[in-house]
Amino acid sequence: MGNVFTRIGESTGDYPLFAGEWEKRAREILPAGPFGFLQSGAGDEVTLGQNREAFNDYDILPRVLRDVSNVDPSIQLFGQEQSLPLMLAPVGFQGIFHSEKEIGSVKAAAAAGIPFVASTVTSASLEEIAAAAPKAVKWFQLYWSKNLDLTASMARRAEEAGYQAIVVTVDTGLLGWRKRDYRNGYSPLKLLQGAANYIHDPVFQDMVPQLTEKHIRDAILDNIHHPNLSWDDLRFLRNQTKLPIVVKGILHPADARQVVDLGLDAIIVSNHGGRQLDGAIASVRALPAIVQEVDEAVPILMDGGVRSGADVFKAIALGADSVLIGRPYVYGLVADGQAGVSRVIGDLRTELELTYALSGVTRTAEISSAYLVKR
Ligand code: FNR
Repeated sequence: MGNVFTRIGESTGDYPLFAGEWEKRAREILPAGPFGFLQSGAGDEVTLGQNREAFNDYDILPRVLRDVSNVDPSIQLFGQEQSLPLMLAPVGFQGIFHSEKEIGSVKAAAAAGIPFVASTVTSASLEEIAAAAPKAVKWFQLYWSKNLDLTASMARRAEEAGYQAIVVTVDTGLLGWRKRDYRNGYSPLKLLQGAANYIHDPVFQDMVPQLTEKHIRDAILDNIHHPNLSWDDLRFLRNQTKLPIVVKGILHPADARQVVDLGLDAIIVSNHGGRQLDGAIASVRALPAIVQEVDEAVPILMDGGVRSGADVFKAIALGADSVLIGRPYVYGLVADGQAGVSRVIGDLRTELELTYALSGVTRTAEISSAYLVKR
């Protein structure tokens, strides 16, 4: 990693754009349906707003007069190097945002040296995504299917395609109350977006009588909702794959404890970007109790509302090992495909390196609660 001060403006072109500006571009480009789907949260969007606001509960307490001429924010997770404590969160249906779909996103992640998490409901299949960026660190996010053979088959395909971890999302047993989508009458799954991993799956092909639009859609909708999913099911997955299993959507310390007790490998503290349970605790507010409960037994990641270098720094100071961003990189994808995602990551990198330097740290491992005060 270079000297932060020579990197300003250099990594990203002329002048850095900020999350709000990318968002504005996305709003101008996308029709109301897909934009509402990307942007909105559940219910009255209280949790969506709190995810952002909660970062203001804390202030950075910087140290000065230290040599910060060489900042290196890189970290190791599961023995894999990542150039920043940042990953691209699983965001399904990327074909509704840009013709490059997830391929643009995974290539930008690969170029930046950060992991990409592919959703179950991608527009390109998990094999196509892997083939487009063979060197990238890729994780596969699994939406549990009611049909266990289908669940096992997707995990197996991800392992065979070179994905390095399975992320099980556990906050979507039922779909959240998405008022904006209802108002717009918009549902990407109904349009058969996000079906690629199902259509390519041999178990799925045997399940549906014919690969017609209606049969595919009905089978996906029937399989994706699983209000009876339980910790026992995660035991089943543990026996299906050698890959690390990451549980996404944990907010309660007792659930974090279950992850550790079951021998699973990492936690993503998340409320699904405020898209599921409105009124749920902001991710960054849920983080400290989980960090305390887990006591370094497994890595802890978080997502929800991360928009700036200061946000990443604060999450790490609160005990996260890495963070994920969802909407911000998709705004970049909407605006300019892979190049847009690269700019979003590049600007965040520059800002993050500056935040390290101006806080008096040069390595991610140096960041601790000593650099934070609660307001
Ligand atoms: C998501 N998210 C998500 N999560 C997941 O596990 N599987 C998925 O398929 C999706 N799909 C998805 C689509 C869209 C349009 C959005 C905005 C989000 C949630 C995502 O992984 C992440 O938790 C949040 O986006 C993080 O919050 P921010 O960074 O968007 O505030």
